[in-house]
Amino acid sequence: MNVILSAIRNSGTAIRIFELHTADGKAFPAYQPGAHIDVTLGNGLVRQYSLCCDQPSPDRYRIAVKQEPQSRGGSAWLHAEAKEGDTLQISAPRNAFALADAAGSHLLFAGGIGITPVLSMAYALLRDGADFHLHYFVRDEASVAFRDELTGTSLATHVSIHAGLSVDQTGAVIAAALTDAAVDAHAYTCGPGPFMATVVDLATARLGASQVHKESFSAPVAEAGDAAFVVRLSDGKEIEVASGKTALACLQEAGIEVDCSCEVGVCGTCQTKVIEGIPDHRDGFLNEKEKASNLWFMPCVSRARTGVLVLDL
Ligand code: FES
Repeated sequence: MNVILSAIRNSGTAIRIFELHTADGKAFPAYQPGAHIDVTLGNGLVRQYSLCCDQPSPDRYRIAVKQEPQSRGGSAWLHAEAKEGDTLQISAPRNAFALADAAGSHLLFAGGIGITPVLSMAYALLRDGADFHLHYFVRDEASVAFRDELTGTSLATHVSIHAGLSVDQTGAVIAAALTDAAVDAHAYTCGPGPFMATVVDLATARLGASQVHKESFSAPVAEAGDAAFVVRLSDGKEIEVASGKTALACLQEAGIEVDCSCEVGVCGTCQTKVIEGIPDHRDGFLNEKEKASNLWFMPCVSRARTGVLVLDL
């Protein structure tokens, strides 16, 4: 659906908040806290952003975007090119990061721009009178987004801002928060990969995996030591995927058309059938059962555990 970019404001270092209004007067679909939307930018790229609205509204959505130095065109466009009055296209909201109905209390852990889905969760919990606390970790005080709302509204008593902590200090704060958690508490986290890994490890040890929830819009595209592998197409053609390059990039360079959108393993657009071989799944789209079946491969982020991966391309 088309939306109007109705307001833009800065909030924290390199973070901008974008308000979206319906372009045709029709109501926006309702959404659950934690949901995200696909946004088609003015440069044609599609990116996923969490809704971070303070309250449900039929004609207003809100997203916040950090300008990433290594931006592949999403945050860079929104920060440099987008202006109030622009028309953008968005998808209906989807939610892979919902609050747990059965939770007796909720511990929210946000790192950096990971505050966005967590903020809408916090507002929803506040409206429901739920037992919750939000721990928000930032590089420094200047990096706090939504400071006015987090410290100047009813949210304030439910929020602890942790600025400038070392990795060890961060782990200690998370561990202490979890030590005090009730057995029926659920933990939620969104933020940089290592931060979320720390939360997930500590929370899983304390509460069990079924009470831990995470959201990720980025995936490790290449890691040091990744082995090269070969993708063989159904016509027998072979394409080498070098260490440090994605299968998607190598396929595209070889002139093979593969539909793609997010390029970080979350949207499912590039899902490709595996004919032979075992993928090294690194996406956040396939569920555990699908991953275990080894029938599907997400070439934008995943790699191979076997030297050759035969794909239905
Ligand atoms: S392009 Fe979105 S999962 Fe691969």
